Order: sequence, then C-alpha cells, then structure tokens
Amino acid sequence: MGVKIIVGAQWGDEGKGKIVDLVSEKVDIVARYQGGPNAGHTVVIGDEQIILHQIPSGILRENTICIIGNGVVIDPVVLMQEIDFLKQKGIDVTGRLLISHRAHLIMPYHHLLDSSREEAQGVDKIGTTGRGIGPAYVDKYNRSGIRIVDLLDRDVLSEKLRKNIAEKNKVLERIYHAVQIDVDKVIQDYIEFDHLIDEYVTDVSVYLNEAIRQGKEILVEGAQGTMLDIDFGTYPFVTSSNPTAGGACCGLGIGPTSIEAVIGIAKAYTTRVGMGPMPTEFDPEFSQTIRQLGGEFGATTGRPRRCGWLDAVVLRHAVRINTLSSLVLTKLDVLDTLPEIKICTEYRYKNKTIKNYPAEINIQEQAVPIYETHPGWMQSTQNIRAFEEMPANAQAYIRRIEELTGVPIDIISVGSRRDQTIRKNRSLVRQPDQR
Ligand code: IMO
Ligand code: MG
Repeated sequence: MGVKIIVGAQWGDEGKGKIVDLVSEKVDIVARYQGGPNAGHTVVIGDEQIILHQIPSGILRENTICIIGNGVVIDPVVLMQEIDFLKQKGIDVTGRLLISHRAHLIMPYHHLLDSSREEAQGVDKIGTTGRGIGPAYVDKYNRSGIRIVDLLDRDVLSEKLRKNIAEKNKVLERIYHAVQIDVDKVIQDYIEFDHLIDEYVTDVSVYLNEAIRQGKEILVEGAQGTMLDIDFGTYPFVTSSNPTAGGACCGLGIGPTSIEAVIGIAKAYTTRVGMGPMPTEFDPEFSQTIRQLGGEFGATTGRPRRCGWLDAVVLRHAVRINTLSSLVLTKLDVLDTLPEIKICTEYRYKNKTIKNYPAEINIQEQAVPIYETHPGWMQSTQNIRAFEEMPANAQAYIRRIEELTGVPIDIISVGSRRDQTIRKNRSLVRQPDQR
C-alpha cells in the first residue's frame, strides 16, 4: 500500500505507457505530475494501438481513477480530443478523470512562441515537440501563467489574457515576425473550455492525501525521462519540467514520505528524439536498422528516433537521481536478431575515465563510450513468458545490466502486447493473461 512512482530512465519513449497500463490493473489511482501533450504513451490492447498524450494510461482500466496534477501543463484542445477519442473507443472518463485546479494551461500563444523560437534558433534548435511546453512553463515561473482556477472568474480571465496577449503579440511581431493572436477569440475559446472541463476539476492534493490515508494503491506516472529533466538532463536539450521522481511531490501536492518505491523504465537499448548529446548513438546506417526493427518513430510527432547502445552511465545517473528501487527493461525483443550487443560501461574524456554522467554539454558531446560486447541470443524472445526460459545470452545480458546499475530488473517486456511481459522478481504486476 502506498505511492509508487514510474519514471523514464533514459530520454523518454521507454515504454512507460505499456508498463503503467499493466501495473494499473492492480492500483486504484494513476496520477501524472509534469509535462503535457509532448508525451506520447502507446498502449496496445489486442490488435488496437492507443496513443495518449495527457490522460494517464491507467484510464484504459475501468476501475482506475486518473489524475492530472498541478505540475502538468494542459492543452485544452488536446485534452478534449483525447476525451472524445476515448469515448469513441467505449471508454467513459466521467467520474474517473480528475484535474488539478492549480494546473497551468497551454495557450495558443505558447504554441506560436515555441515554433517561432525553434525556427529562429536554426541549427541550435532544441527539436521540441512544438506543443508549447517550454513557453507555458516560462509563464508559470514568470508568474503570468493562466491556471484552471482562473477560468472560474471571467473578468479575471479576460484581464489576464488581455495583458498576456498584448505582451506576447509584441514579441511575436517584433522578434519573430509571426502572426498576431486574436485576444477575443482566445477569451471565447477558453470560456467554452471551462464548461467542458468543469466536471473534472478538483483539489488533487486533498484527494490524493485522503486516498493515501485510506491506504489506496497509487501509481504516479512520469512523462519524458531522466535525461530530459530540466535539472539533471542534457541541458539545454531537455524539456521544461522535472520528469525525475522529485517532481512527483511538487507536481501533485504529496510529501516525500508517502513514496514507497520508484521504478525506472529503460529500453534494452537507447533512443532519443530531438537534438542534443547521446554518447552511445549508432552510425546512421545501424540507427536505421534498429529504428526499423523497433518501430522507433515518435508517438507525438512521428519523427524518426535516434538509436544507440544501452548506456550504463545514463542508467546509473537515473538510479541515483530517482533513487530507483528497480528497473523494467522494455523492447528486449528488438535485439533478438543481433549477433553482438554492446553495453557502454563508462566514458573516456581526455584520458580520464568518467563513471558519473557529466554536467558539461561539451564533455557529454565529446566523451567516448567504452563498450563491452556481449554475444547475441539470435532467437525470438517474443513468446517467452518466464525468465528461466529465456536464452542464456539474454539472461546474461539482463544480469549484467543489474550488476552495472546496482538495481534488480523486475519486469522484461518482449513485445507491445500486454501478455508479452516477463515478471522476473517481485509481484509488481500480476502475470497478465492472454488478451
Ligand atoms: P514521452 O512521455 C521523448 C523531447 C523533445 C525535445 C525535448 C524538448 O512520450 O516519453 P518539449 O516539447 O518537451 O519542449 O521538447 O524533449 N521530448 C520527448 N522525447 N519522449 C517524450 O515524451 C518527450 N517529450 C519531449 O523531442 O528533444
Ligand atoms: Mg513517447
């Protein structure tokens, strides 16, 4: 009983959606604490692929309550589309989706500022998802953001929007030579949104703390990953929030002593979308091979993901920053046909060994990964359901990752379906039935 946090241990897209869906079978509440529609969480049920951007993947389990915390930035258009999409799939979110009244809203000018700034940066661009995430968090910290509570009072909303938009329009015109925002349309749209969202809005901190007191099982879901963390990632090539475990408390209004475990999700290799350092990146040709094998295209933007070997320096960083209790290893089956598989154990930079992920961007870019090479298993693992039945070389690969990171691997995922899951250690998930 208590709160468990699931975080991405790499650069996002580790398969958090599938694991949250699996684990949420056993939990009462799933809550998200940061990010916004930059996330793309894919869950495969039967033959159907469902991609969620803002609503936690727990919504696919009919008895689970899903929460969007104050730390999330919400895009009303994406949220309403997602609610409608789920309704079409026969999933009613009424009474099961709760949204914090303290959450900030992504506004149309955030989108424009995000894309205009990226365009203006040229080769130095971050490669954002273009969803307005950075500018929305900038306004939050600049104390000019619009929160859900602001929708309650139309006069306050209109006044804040007029002030904000007057300023943004100047920036859009004079710095980016971009189109102007129509303030009256924005006010109208967000008043309409208030009616639609009203039934979901609540004080999430009060709700969650009461649930903790009652001994409910709560799963907290991070978006993005450790290496995209604004403080501990590859700054400035990061997202504008704290996807690491520490962000969960501030993003939901719960205290650190309520956290029971933190589970890191890591792919059996590494991927990243967008620009920035990635020490173990493959050459373009091999990247292409793995991208095809693993279907490595962004769930939100469709962009091809950069691919590379598993990086134990990155994983140790994730273990430390998040105090991970265990790891889940996903997409192991993507490596099934490779004769040799490498793991980066440390970096070399100017004749020095680096064991802890460095903060300097130039060192991150120039560090040379030191690899150890493991023989592949050269057979399909997709239909294996027990660790003991895995090929010896696959078992050895997994054990080596446990050694290098110092944490156990509880679950191994060998395909996108719910049943393609191997539970190795503790009973984090019930062994799923074929469905
Ligand atoms: P999930 O939750 C992978 C990346 C973007 C870019 C950087 C900043 O699906 O794992 P932003 O739009 O957040 O300002 O972009 O972060 N990024 C992600 N990469 N998975 C994600 O989410 C991501 N969300 C943002 O590509 O490099
Ligand atoms: Mg994703």
